[in-house]
Amino acid sequence: MKLLVLGGHGFVGRSVVEVLRPTNHEVIPVSLRDGLDLLDCESTKKYFRKVKPDVTINCAARVGSLNLVTQQAADIVDTNMRMLVNIFRAAWECAPDTRLINPVANCAFPGHLDRYTEDRLWEGNLHRSVLSYGSTRRMMLILSECYMMQYGFKAINFFVPNMYGPHDSTDPNKAHALNALIGKAVKTHREAKKELEVWGSGIAIREWLYASDFGRIVAETIERINDYGFAEPVNVGQNFGLSVRELIEIILRQTGCACRLTWNRDMPDGAPKKVMDDTRFRKIFPNFEFTTLKEGITETIRYYESIYPY
Ligand SMILES: NC(=O)c1ccc[n+]([C@@H]2O[C@H](COP(=O)([O-])OP(=O)(O)OC[C@H]3O[C@@H](n4cnc5c(N)ncnc54)[C@H](OP(=O)(O)O)[C@@H]3O)[C@@H](O)[C@H]2O)c1
Repeated sequence: MKLLVLGGHGFVGRSVVEVLRPTNHEVIPVSLRDGLDLLDCESTKKYFRKVKPDVTINCAARVGSLNLVTQQAADIVDTNMRMLVNIFRAAWECAPDTRLINPVANCAFPGHLDRYTEDRLWEGNLHRSVLSYGSTRRMMLILSECYMMQYGFKAINFFVPNMYGPHDSTDPNKAHALNALIGKAVKTHREAKKELEVWGSGIAIREWLYASDFGRIVAETIERINDYGFAEPVNVGQNFGLSVRELIEIILRQTGCACRLTWNRDMPDGAPKKVMDDTRFRKIFPNFEFTTLKEGITETIRYYESIYPY
């Protein structure tokens, strides 16, 4: 099969490509740096017409820290909505048989919920800290439903918690929460600094997914793409979360960093708790084994050690 990975050079895209590459499929990563601008509808259509992928994994987006998606809220909504609208239109018009797989960030869920079940997506407003980005993630579900309703076009949506692992940006405004923490701890340790600043108060509880686990889920999905279970959105959930404080302690232990922590409370915490129900996931992937936090953090520390040389 021909597998197109939009945003294939980004953090999640690279992790997906790494898992898919050794399979027997043809894997095509593409992003802005290759000259495909998904904000340009005609170029996007032309690209889909040329490639005609059997499966399209949509890892393209304009993302950033809570700080960035608040400060640049209008631009975040504008670019992400346009990208999504163009992707669905181009895929349907120019490669109507492609199956579109979307990792939907779980900030799409209502801010007041602390345990996310797929059916509760519409039961309230988003947390204000993610109003801009989360609204565009909800739009993935609306587009999927509407394209199915009118054209029978099939998209598969996975609700996905915060991911971590190798290949993330080193820009503090773009790096994802756990990666940013690991990167900072590695740097602090290398530079023998005595203090490490952490954004927020550390009380927020989050669920974490090792990015290549998402790649393995995509690979398994592709092998049984017509399963009935994929007709509805599925949480990639483990029903388990840890606070930022607990996480940083694990990271400091694993990096060997003995610094003092300071908490920058001027930076937003976001919603207090986000944990994902795994009932539907376990029905579809009963034997899937997630990478443990300890293994995942060890690999991620190794990655940051390799990009911050002595
Ligand atoms: N990271 C997480 O924790 C997480 C969790 C749940 C869901 N997700 C979802 O996974 C997806 C990818 O996130 P990420 O963290 O991998 O983001 P990322 O590292 O910033 O990667 C985004 C990718 O999108 C590409 N892109 C941006 N604008 C584009 C445009 N106009 N035309 C073509 N390509 C464009 C970028 O291209 P260049 O590389 O060429 O700049 C990059 O490859 C998003 O939908 C996100 O919501 C992520």
